[in-house]
Amino acid sequence: MFRLITWVLGLGIACALFGYFVILPQLGREKSDIDVTALKGDPERGAYVLRMAGCVTCHSDGQGEATFLAGGPALKTPFGTFYGPNITPDPDHGIGRMTNQEFFDAVTAGLRPDGTHYFPAFPYASYVKMDGQDVVDLKAYLDTVPAVSKAARRHEIAWPFSDRSLVGGWKLLAIKARSIVPDAGQDNAWNRGMYLVEGAGHCGECHTDRNLLGLPRGPAHGGSPKGSFSSGAPSIAGAKSVIADWTHEDITFYLENGLKPDGDVSGGKMTQVIDFATSHLTGDDLDAIARYLLSLQTPATH
Ligand code: HEC
Ligand code: HEC
Repeated sequence: MFRLITWVLGLGIACALFGYFVILPQLGREKSDIDVTALKGDPERGAYVLRMAGCVTCHSDGQGEATFLAGGPALKTPFGTFYGPNITPDPDHGIGRMTNQEFFDAVTAGLRPDGTHYFPAFPYASYVKMDGQDVVDLKAYLDTVPAVSKAARRHEIAWPFSDRSLVGGWKLLAIKARSIVPDAGQDNAWNRGMYLVEGAGHCGECHTDRNLLGLPRGPAHGGSPKGSFSSGAPSIAGAKSVIADWTHEDITFYLENGLKPDGDVSGGKMTQVIDFATSHLTGDDLDAIARYLLSLQTPATH
């Protein structure tokens, strides 16, 4: 009997070890099935994509040459504190050695050049919907910014969240759609708005509530309560939307200037989103976002 128990326990431990070291690291390893090697990047368009996708917020500790994109401020999350690394072309401390395909797989699939996972604090779960040409243009622009030789700060995260092999399972649960399917029943502006809100603009990273595993919970853009597990952002869609009675112009004006229709100024992390991203958008793109957001409002029932 004793030998049987030892045997069963041993087998159990062997299976667990096999699962942990062999199977887990393989989960969610799927590379993007999009090949971008034939695409040529346009750095000028890329400079715009960088703003549109809000990369500056997490990767710059300032706007000067010595700091631009050379590593970001502390990003506090319930899993620990992350630091957006140096993404200047420095070959040792930045991304100078990354090919376009490796960069595309990093941004849209959360995969490091060695095939292991990036942590989801890098919002690739939204960027998975970014267009290949946009990402290649972005890389062409990044190749032109001054290289800064500054090492990335180490993230401060405790086990098990520090274990990159666990991220694969998270990806399988979190990433459902790998691209945005345009809605043929809507016009170009609405579809562009959907791309900007659901993909590049990653608005749902804050405006959609999260559960204890950091997986989206509740309605999309339905707000994440302050003090909850999520970072806290108001609802901008559906039944509880705080912008239900905003006009098209109220939305574009807010995203450009940070002023709400009641005269209040934007607060919290939205101020950075406006300063570093949406205030740089063209009028057409602001219109597209407003058009799409308006379609997510449910008309008042009273
Ligand atoms: C919300 C914060 C945030 C935003 C927004 C963000 N990143 Fe990051 N990024 C991170 C973090 C954190 C990491 C490190 C992840 C890790 O260590 O696994 C990272 C890693 C990277 C890497 C890998 C660098 C390396 O040395 O391996 C690249 C490339 C990158 N980001 C590019 C971008 C681009 C391009 C954008 C805009 C499209 C962007 N990031 C937007 C937080 C962010
Ligand atoms: C980093 C987190 C974050 C991201 C990303 C983000 N938001 Fe916000 N957003 C917030 C927070 C926090 C507020 C509340 C601001 C305040 O208290 O004034 C807010 C407020 C807003 C409001 C005003 C609602 C109100 O009355 O306070 C709108 C509209 C809005 N966001 C739209 C967007 C859009 C569109 C995007 C994507 C382009 C986006 N947000 C991305 C965190 C975020």
